[in-house]
Amino acid sequence: MEKRGSLFLGFLFFSLVTISTGQVKEIKNSETLAMCPVPENSSPKGHSPKLFVFGDSYVDTGNLQPFRSSGGCVLTDYIASFLGINSPVQYEKRNLAENKAELKNGMNFAYGGSGVLKEAWNNHSMTIQINNFKQQIKEKVFTKYDLENSAALVSHAGNDYTYLYLNQSGTIKDVHALAGRVVDQLVKNVKEIHELGVKKIAILGSPPRGCWPQLNPRPRTNCNATWNEESRFHNQLLTEALKNVEESEKNAFVFLDLYKAMDLALQKNKENSDYENPLEPCCDGVSDEYWCGMKDQKGAEMFTVCRQPESSFFWDKVHPSQNGVHAIFLDLIPSLERLLLIC
Ligand SMILES: *[C@@H]1O[C@H](CO)[C@@H](O)[C@H](O)[C@H]1NC(C)=O
Ligand SMILES: *[C@@H]1O[C@H](CO)[C@@H](O)[C@H](O)[C@H]1NC(C)=O
Ligand SMILES: *[C@@H]1O[C@H](CO)[C@@H](O)[C@H](O)[C@H]1NC(C)=O
Repeated sequence: MEKRGSLFLGFLFFSLVTISTGQVKEIKNSETLAMCPVPENSSPKGHSPKLFVFGDSYVDTGNLQPFRSSGGCVLTDYIASFLGINSPVQYEKRNLAENKAELKNGMNFAYGGSGVLKEAWNNHSMTIQINNFKQQIKEKVFTKYDLENSAALVSHAGNDYTYLYLNQSGTIKDVHALAGRVVDQLVKNVKEIHELGVKKIAILGSPPRGCWPQLNPRPRTNCNATWNEESRFHNQLLTEALKNVEESEKNAFVFLDLYKAMDLALQKNKENSDYENPLEPCCDGVSDEYWCGMKDQKGAEMFTVCRQPESSFFWDKVHPSQNGVHAIFLDLIPSLERLLLIC
C-alpha cells in the first residue's frame, strides 16, 4: 500500500468552522449534557465527579481545533454525560471568562495528533499533558478533595504508530516493534495520573486501525488485517500490563475495549443502515492528499461531505462520526459502570 500524506496534518490547515453543508459546528461544553445524551437510568444521580481527559483526537474536544473530530459529540462528551456532568473545559480555553464556571467539571488536556512518545503528529505528548495537569494542581485550580472525587479518561488510538509509519518511513515491522515502548510509557502515564490522586482511570484500547479509511486504499471494502492485528497486539500488551500493576492500583484502572466496541458498531452499521458503505468516510478529500475540510491555495474546497452524515460510521479518514461514537459508547456502558464506584 502506498503511504499517504500525513495523518493529522490536515487539521492544521483546517481553518473552517462550518463545512459547506453546515454539519460541523462548535459545540459548547455547557450544552453537551443535553446534546450528547446517554440512555436514561445509565447515569448516576446526585453525584458529580470531575473528569480529567488525556490523549488524542478521539477525546480532544477543542484543544487542537475549535470543533470535535467526529463532527459532533465525541466519547468525552458521552462519558461526561454518563457521569452526570457537562464536558470539561479544554485546557487551551481554561482562561476564557465564560469557561471559569466549567472548571467544576474538570479539565480536558487531550490534544489531537498526540501520542505518548515525545513526538508524534505534534509535540503535545501525554507526558506534557500530565505536566499541564500538575501545574493546575500546583496553582490550586483543583484541590485534593477535587481529585479524590474525580475520574480520568485516557485515549491512545495510535498516533505514535501512524506517525512512525506515515511520517518517519517506518515499516509495519517497526510499528510492531514499537508497541512495547508505547505501552510501557502509556502505563507509566496512567500510573502517574493515579498517583496525583485521581481515583478511577478509564483507559481506551486502540481501535481497529485497519478499518480506518486512512489506512485503506479506495474503494474501501475490507479492514486491513495487518493493521488490525497491530491494534490487537497493543491492546494485549496493555491489558497484560494493567493486570500486573500492584494490587492497590488494580481497582483504579478500567480498560475500555474500543476495539471490540468499534468492530461491533461497524458490523451493526453495515446490517442496519442504508448507508452506502460504513468503511467510506462521510467527509473526505477529493484525493488522498486531502482531508475533510481542506482547501487548495485558491480557497477551493478539496473535500466532499456525504448526504447522510447521521447514518455514516466514519466522519473522516480516522474518526467515527457522532453516529459511530454513540454506538461505540453504548457498547462501553457496562465497563463504564465500574467508573461509578468513585469514593
Ligand atoms: C517537535 O519538536 C521538535 C524539536 O523541537 C521539532 O524538530 C519537530 O519539528 C516538532 N514536531 C512537530 C510535529 O511539531
Ligand atoms: C512529516 O514529514 C515531512 C518530511 O517528510 C515533514 O516535512 C513534515 O513536517 C512532517 N509532518 C509532521 C506533522 O510532523
Ligand atoms: C495492509 O497493510 C499492510 C501494511 O501497511 C500492507 O502491507 C498490506 O498490503 C495491506 N493489505 C491490504 C489487503 O491492503
